[in-house]
Amino acid sequence: MQELEKLKQELKKLNLEAAKIREIAVEKRAEFGRKLNAKKQEVLERIAAAEKAVLDAEVQPLDVTAWSGVNEPLPELYSTLMGSRHPLMTELDRVAEIYQMMGFEVVESRQLDDEYHMFDSLNFAKDHPARDGYDTFRTEEGLIPPAHTSTMQHRVLKQFKSKLDAGQAIAVVVPGRVYRNEDVDATHEHTFYQCEGVYVSSDCNMGQMLGVLREFFEKYYEQKLNIRTQPGYFPFTEPSLEFMIEKPRSLGGKKGDWLEMLGCGMIHPNVLKMAGIDPNKYHGFAWGGGIDRLVMLRYGLGDVRYFESGNLNFLREFN
Ligand code: DAH
Repeated sequence: MQELEKLKQELKKLNLEAAKIREIAVEKRAEFGRKLNAKKQEVLERIAAAEKAVLDAEVQPLDVTAWSGVNEPLPELYSTLMGSRHPLMTELDRVAEIYQMMGFEVVESRQLDDEYHMFDSLNFAKDHPARDGYDTFRTEEGLIPPAHTSTMQHRVLKQFKSKLDAGQAIAVVVPGRVYRNEDVDATHEHTFYQCEGVYVSSDCNMGQMLGVLREFFEKYYEQKLNIRTQPGYFPFTEPSLEFMIEKPRSLGGKKGDWLEMLGCGMIHPNVLKMAGIDPNKYHGFAWGGGIDRLVMLRYGLGDVRYFESGNLNFLREFN
């Protein structure tokens, strides 16, 4: 611990010294800066190592194969007081709450699904190349960890169909964890979160869909937003759109910085039919988009990989 404190003092001194750069002759500044940065880099590395040593010393790794008796003292674990909720879980709650205020029910998605819910029930033709676009993982038994929350559409439509008979609308959102077999980089993760929305009634239309989405994003970012759409393609909606917002100035955006936030459209008649809903009597709209991206914009995060990294320093920033 003392070692860590000393290093932090050292870093502070170096930062103070850096502030003196203005007092130095212009031609010597580059050299001065280079030397100082090298020193600082070294101290930062030593701080990281010292912090890791502190954590390693606090908790011994568990030997999960070791024999254990019920009367043995329990191994030392981090106190639960040190833990905190993962920021994505907090944000998922916020997302669900906004939709709930708008009258949507929340249904949870699942972690393992099948070919039928991933593709067939969503009007993907057999052997259609669009199936490849989802980079699905598969278990040896042929099950699929869902690559989008749309896997829940068919279930939601069937489960809430009776509402339509009672003259009400189906209004449901489905937050959930999804998986894709893609190369990981600053903007792509193999594991991430989406939120799906499904609305069906006898008289809904695309204008209402855009109204719902605008309302959601303006509530989430707590300000008025410019929105726009462009044509998209999804087998389960017709027409299909990509919904974009202009990155607000308060979040570092400039005019013309359009960000694609989600896919949406009017639910394809075949999707309604497969769930036993008459597309001549009822219409619906649906949408689905990434939560990680939403949260990254809100907090100015530049790398999606932090979320799944288990990096305590990152997680502590949200406490
Ligand atoms: N599931 C799509 C994806 O992950 C997003 C999406 C598009 C969901 C259109 C929808 C929709 O419900 O109507 O790329």
